[in-house]
Amino acid sequence: MIKKVLAVFLMLAAIIVSGCGEESSVDRKVAIAFPNTTPSWQRNGDSMKKTLEDEGFTVDLQFSATSDEQVKKVDELLDGKPSCLVIGAIDGEAFVDVLNKAKEQQVPVIAFDRIIKNTDAVNYYASFDNEAIGEAMGEYFEAALNLKNGGGPYNIELFAGGPSDNNAHLFFKNSMKILEPYFKTGQLVCRSGQMDFDRCATADWNSANAKTRIKSLLDTYYNAGQPLHAVLSPNDDIAGVILEEMKARGMQTPLISGLDADPAAIERIKAGQQTFTVSKDPDLLTSKCVRMIKAVVEGTEPSINDVTTYNNGVKAVPAYLCTPYIIDKGNVNNQ
Ligand code: BGC
Repeated sequence: MIKKVLAVFLMLAAIIVSGCGEESSVDRKVAIAFPNTTPSWQRNGDSMKKTLEDEGFTVDLQFSATSDEQVKKVDELLDGKPSCLVIGAIDGEAFVDVLNKAKEQQVPVIAFDRIIKNTDAVNYYASFDNEAIGEAMGEYFEAALNLKNGGGPYNIELFAGGPSDNNAHLFFKNSMKILEPYFKTGQLVCRSGQMDFDRCATADWNSANAKTRIKSLLDTYYNAGQPLHAVLSPNDDIAGVILEEMKARGMQTPLISGLDADPAAIERIKAGQQTFTVSKDPDLLTSKCVRMIKAVVEGTEPSINDVTTYNNGVKAVPAYLCTPYIIDKGNVNNQ
């Protein structure tokens, strides 16, 4: 009799333990959908996966090359019933329909690096201070060209990122806020006259598109020895192709910005080819985002430091914004 009771007890215990195990692993499953369009996204993805796994989460990380592919992957990721979904959006406006499914399933959604627009299904946003990034770029040009003290005239051409990414608009707008007055005084001269976002944009942030544009600018406006003193580049990937093209034509290295602290950009800064990059430390963003994920999964309030800036058209998405910093020849060797 005692043996029988013990056997039943052990059986029940096994059922309870295996049930708990299953439940806790289901509860700690994170689905991630990132672009694979630039090297920085690969680093973000690897860093997220490793940090989450170290914290005991299981991770389904999916990279996509196009917006359609990414929306489809998000739909499939939701079929896996994750306890949290993290999206680095290729097109910030493409998720309205698919995120209804997240809402129905009560899966919390975190927008990573780029805001997701026109839906209330996005719960939180983990990013850098994207307005500060644009300003920092503008201020670097202002100081390096001594514009406040009347420096110039300098020829400058302007590049922006992908139109479907809200960050690209914020970077450009906030850089231009600093630079615009100097176009008015004639200290900065844009020979192409291409100064609005649409004409400066780089579709999909694809550096091949930026290469086509710099070639055409140089062929048309700098074909008779006119110097191009400065180029506003929205990230390192694009700075790389602009520098490559100018070098191939034997032109002087311009004052040029970048973003992401890509290893290739760090090497160019060391070699005196790229002036600076703005670092968005992937480990910093990852650690903040992972804390956010843990909080939502565990049903507690994540730490937030901005509740007003990122109105996505439907609601102001509560955000944690990390602080970026500049790397140039002055501090590149400390990296
Ligand atoms: C990110 C940049 C990145 C760019 C291209 C932007 O949304 O903020 O860090 O270089 O996308 O992927």
